[in-house]
Amino acid sequence: MAAVYIDNIAYEMDEKLNLLQAALSKGLDIPYFCWHPALGSAGSCRLCAVKQFKDEHDTQGKIVMSCMTPVQDGTRFSIHDPEVTAFRKSILEFLMVNHPHDCPICDEGGECHLQDMTVMTGHNYREYRFKKRTFRNQNLGPLINHEMNRCIQCYRCERFYTDYAGGDDLHHFGAHNRIYFGRFEDGPFKNEFSGNLVEICPTGVFTDKTLKQHYTRKWDLQTAPSVCVHCAVGCNTVPGERYGTLRRIRNRYNGEINKYFLCDRGRYGYEFVNHENRARHPMLHQKEKRFVSISMEEAKQQLEQIATHSRGLIGIGSPRAPLESNYALWKLVGKENFFAGVDDNEFQIQQTIIDIFQNGPVRSPSLQDIRKADAVLILGEDLTNTAPMMALAVRQAVRNQASKISRSVGIPDWQDAAVHNAIQDKKGPLFVLTAAETKLDTIAQESLHAAPGDIARLGYAIAHALDSSAPPVGGMTNEEEALVKQITQALLQADRPLIISGCSLNREVVESAANAAWALQKKKTDVQLAYSMMECNSFGLALLTNQSLRSANQTLDAGHADTVIILENDLYRRGSQQDIDALLNKAETIIVLDHMTHSTTERADLVLPASTFAEGSGTFVNQEGRAQRYYQVFIPEGDIQDSWRWLRAMEPIQNDTLRRWNRLDDVISALSSEFPQFQPVKDIAPTADYRAAGQKIPRQTYRYSGRTAINAHREIHEPKPKDDVDSPLAFSMEGYTGVPPAPLIHSFWAPGWNSIQSVNKFQSEVDGPLRGGDPGKRLIESNQTAAPAYFHSIPDTFQATEEGVLFVPLYHIFGSEELSVQSPGIHQLAAIPYLSMHPQTAETMNLEEGDLVEIEGIETDIEFPLKLDISIPPGLAGYPAGLPQLKGAAFPLFGTVKRMVKEGRISSPHD
Ligand code: FES
Repeated sequence: MAAVYIDNIAYEMDEKLNLLQAALSKGLDIPYFCWHPALGSAGSCRLCAVKQFKDEHDTQGKIVMSCMTPVQDGTRFSIHDPEVTAFRKSILEFLMVNHPHDCPICDEGGECHLQDMTVMTGHNYREYRFKKRTFRNQNLGPLINHEMNRCIQCYRCERFYTDYAGGDDLHHFGAHNRIYFGRFEDGPFKNEFSGNLVEICPTGVFTDKTLKQHYTRKWDLQTAPSVCVHCAVGCNTVPGERYGTLRRIRNRYNGEINKYFLCDRGRYGYEFVNHENRARHPMLHQKEKRFVSISMEEAKQQLEQIATHSRGLIGIGSPRAPLESNYALWKLVGKENFFAGVDDNEFQIQQTIIDIFQNGPVRSPSLQDIRKADAVLILGEDLTNTAPMMALAVRQAVRNQASKISRSVGIPDWQDAAVHNAIQDKKGPLFVLTAAETKLDTIAQESLHAAPGDIARLGYAIAHALDSSAPPVGGMTNEEEALVKQITQALLQADRPLIISGCSLNREVVESAANAAWALQKKKTDVQLAYSMMECNSFGLALLTNQSLRSANQTLDAGHADTVIILENDLYRRGSQQDIDALLNKAETIIVLDHMTHSTTERADLVLPASTFAEGSGTFVNQEGRAQRYYQVFIPEGDIQDSWRWLRAMEPIQNDTLRRWNRLDDVISALSSEFPQFQPVKDIAPTADYRAAGQKIPRQTYRYSGRTAINAHREIHEPKPKDDVDSPLAFSMEGYTGVPPAPLIHSFWAPGWNSIQSVNKFQSEVDGPLRGGDPGKRLIESNQTAAPAYFHSIPDTFQATEEGVLFVPLYHIFGSEELSVQSPGIHQLAAIPYLSMHPQTAETMNLEEGDLVEIEGIETDIEFPLKLDISIPPGLAGYPAGLPQLKGAAFPLFGTVKRMVKEGRISSPHD
């Protein structure tokens, strides 16, 4: 630590930081634009100027940029010196010369960093009286709006998009005062993290186009702390609501997970909450009249009647429902009658992963741990499409080895341009072994595309090369042996090696990743093993039950039950139409609780409207095994409530376990005491009784407007805000206005800091954890002393045959996930059905690019246009997993493909 004097006050500062970051960490305000804690310093905007003095006798000093000045012991600076204050003001004035006077109609208004900096520097009057430079804007697709006239040329957008996120279609064009940031031509950004531009841009150049469709002023949004539901990474978010509809999602900083960023699926997938097909009232299936809407009371009576007359209940849980609702169903039907609502392959993989983490010696990393890894091996996962934020973390990890070069010549990590110059394009070791090309291939030292079994074989072989007691793999080719040697050496040379796999392919791949990590752990101490899972609570559901969906058949066959309760799940996504029909046909009564209507609700006798993540509170467990709480953002119209609340009515009157649960805390307390592994869940956030300085924490901003008028069409008097018994948050603008505990932070704002940059006022130090620690608690820690119990199921080498093809699922950030694809913007960009294969494979089948093909065993009228893809190994065929059009069409492992009689060509808008 160094003693630094700022305006004659001594501060202890971290010598690894630049002066701007260190001063912000001490709570001092220095204006800035181009610096960002994740991007480092560029020194281009000149706004962060301070004055530096030689010693205490120096009265002249010199102006320096604080973001480019290292912290050094004994140095002296002034932020408030009149000369430097005037300098910053003049810089702002220059930057504003061409900026339009459009704040009142600008989408950025109310949370604009440029507005904040204008006020902070004191640039109150504009004296420039001439014509302003103007640009033509681009149509950047359904997610991002473009307004180039507002640009102040800080270069943050390009630095984030290209350098941080690996995008290649956002550039700067032109020169001097006509620099233009945009794409070469109109069209949506190709990078999966483009939505972060709306937060990275300090002005309103890039704004959220989905918000624009139902715009509301930022301070009129009601918000709550939340967790993303569109994959298993568990990024923290801030959803905002107005007039009963969700208007946008914004990033919520969590130093262990997403930090400053979200992927586009997480940011723009929210509009399913506003979908017109939502179930808002209970619906009873009357055979002749189809569904009729019934009241909440009638629904409860129906539930009681069904429970009373039923021969027995079985429950099918959901990986997208919170722990509390899954647990309530588990409790209602009993352990033996509760089944995981996922397909067989995924179920097996998830159980294996839980076993690996519970009993194996290697721990699962957080996203922050992944960012710190210095050698990465990926087995079988296209992370950019299955766990996008994990892919973004891997992109940062590949710099760690290379940055040793810049550190060795004394360049600090925050010196962005100097670091880039020193390391050029050098990347650390990343090895990507997948079934087809992935975006991470472009930064990989080696990438290999192989059949799932061959990927697993390589994983097993790496384990054996590291530890001879791991099972050997026979029949390896010379190339494979060379690759195994190269990967093994890189992992051994690293300080923090990381192995990643996931649920995309099969159990052998997952097991081989564990073998490799365990073998490495015998040689090194800081080894990590990450698995990407499919949905926001896949890990939580897998911890709760080890009974598969398939075994539900046996319980029904045995006649022990005749009523099936399906929790927040469209089972037709989990298996073939035939299998799910067969399962449901065995039930006399089907009850479905969900927030959407779909093929499974169509089969229900009673449909109960469940809350989405924005309308209820609960807990999800992410792929790391970290439990996190999300909170209700708004009170929905209709009879929507959390599923666990509905289930209480089904408990026999004489029992009083579920019936005694009135608040979320009651469910959490029962869950924590019943399952040792869920014990930490009760400590992840304050209980509903928590008060800050005796007050609840308001969900509304202190500038929230129209709360009297908002309901005036119904009631002239302002109604009392509804109570929230589940949390210490209030549906009100009154309450505690200080910084709440981290799990309850529902928006980032501080006096003078209206933009998202205000997050620095909530961190214990800039870029560090939130004050009081980042939210969430890990439920599983590895047993570091356990001897590895190696897996032995080594598959045979894959051989392409002319009999057919091996089908492999290919995932798409837009389209493969059930909820986000219902949002109009994402729907527009979603993948469409196709089948892809190597040209050689197509040739053996007499097929050509664009042919419409049919797949043996899949009875559907969907057309699969053929795409030729040289990255897919011969003998394999890739299909887009999870698309709504392919629901109920379970692909066989192996099968034949033939041309349909009808001719056609591919017409994907994304090609
Ligand atoms: Fe320091 Fe831009 S923030 S020059």
